[in-house]
Amino acid sequence: MDTFPADFVWGVSTSAYQIEGAWAEDGKGESIWDAFVHENGRIANGDTGDVACDHYHRSLEDCDLVAELGVDAYRFSVSWPRWMPAGRGRVNRAGRDFYDRLVDALLARGIAPWVCLYHWDLPQALQEAGGWAARDTAERYADYAASVVGVLGDRVRHVALFNEPNTTAVLGHLLGIHAPGVSDLNAFVRTSHHLNLATGLGLARLRSESSALELGTIVNLQPVVPERDTDEDRQAAATLDAFWNGNHLDPLFEGRYPELTGGMFESVIRDGDLDRISQPLDWFGVNHYTHNRVAADPASLYGASLVPPPDDVQTTAMGWEVAPHALFDQLVALRARLGAVPIFVTENGAAFREAVDDHGDLVRDTKRIDYLSRYVREVGRARAAGVDVRGYFVWSLLDNFEWHEGYGKRFGLVHVDYETQERTRKASFEWYRALVATRTIPDPVET
Ligand code: FCB
Repeated sequence: MDTFPADFVWGVSTSAYQIEGAWAEDGKGESIWDAFVHENGRIANGDTGDVACDHYHRSLEDCDLVAELGVDAYRFSVSWPRWMPAGRGRVNRAGRDFYDRLVDALLARGIAPWVCLYHWDLPQALQEAGGWAARDTAERYADYAASVVGVLGDRVRHVALFNEPNTTAVLGHLLGIHAPGVSDLNAFVRTSHHLNLATGLGLARLRSESSALELGTIVNLQPVVPERDTDEDRQAAATLDAFWNGNHLDPLFEGRYPELTGGMFESVIRDGDLDRISQPLDWFGVNHYTHNRVAADPASLYGASLVPPPDDVQTTAMGWEVAPHALFDQLVALRARLGAVPIFVTENGAAFREAVDDHGDLVRDTKRIDYLSRYVREVGRARAAGVDVRGYFVWSLLDNFEWHEGYGKRFGLVHVDYETQERTRKASFEWYRALVATRTIPDPVET
């Protein structure tokens, strides 16, 4: 179970806003994240993605790191406003060329580019026209998707339509802690539906453009566990599961919304929408980090509140419980839901409280190695149990801008010194390189 076949895809993931920087260079339009981070008090420590890992200027050096790691695939996202500054119409040649060169650089190094079309950085111009709460944004997305694929599609096979629509819906439109910082149930419902609709419209459009593409999409899936064995907590868990997981899985795979939330969507669904959404997929991506414990809480919006993990369980710097078996459970549960659609774990990884003032501790990241070993082992276990998991991508290649948490949370296999932009391979980089080379989980190393 600790050994994987030669054709299992090992990869690393990044996203445009979290690493590129160059937020206002070479004709790039503003994104909702550019606008959000420049508002006071939104991001820990006042951090912004203005410079981030300066990947826009260092992409070749970063491709060399990916090549050195030896992975089969590199998943990155295209910034919509870098490609199409106003979100519609004119393509920004410099932005287009940047991704064009990136794809060529990866291919020249023998790495398969996995292109994600949307990792949260909606053009601000479209936000001003209503954002995801406006149905028209789904149409604009399909046009943008076709534009990117029209240029990169001759060299790229794997395309992800979305990264985690559920995070955009819940964190961006209900809790208001991600861009665009909205906290409104109506906006949340409309956004959730329009993101699903955009997935379906995008899939149909890209299929009509090219039959060679392997089209998939990615949802953040975290199993929800009732804190106590009571009817109330079980109900709370079921509700949260519907909000977080079901609102995006059920429409895609079953052409309907979950029973527990379906009523909310009645006013926004138009005739034919559920058929438009439930398009066949070539693969499905799971981003997974932890599971969530919940208890009934009549005062909260969904009648459920997250309960912090007990003191005796290990947590990451994000406060997320280390619960590797939850990935196994998640994959097994998905098998029933997805039928024959193959699964890729498109993100998994961890930030830990390494001492920030001690560079040595930051790169001797034994906790990350332990976390990754345990999670990868669960992927092997799921495969042995008959789940068709065909690949695994570590989040992330580089330490980067962790959304509202800023730069304090480091997920990289490579350490980034944000003063100098120096990249330093962590112990986990060497560990992952050994895994990829041997297709076998290495024994724990003393560093
Ligand atoms: C996921 C996001 C990714 C990163 C990780 C830690 O939800 O897709 O960008 O922030 O969490």
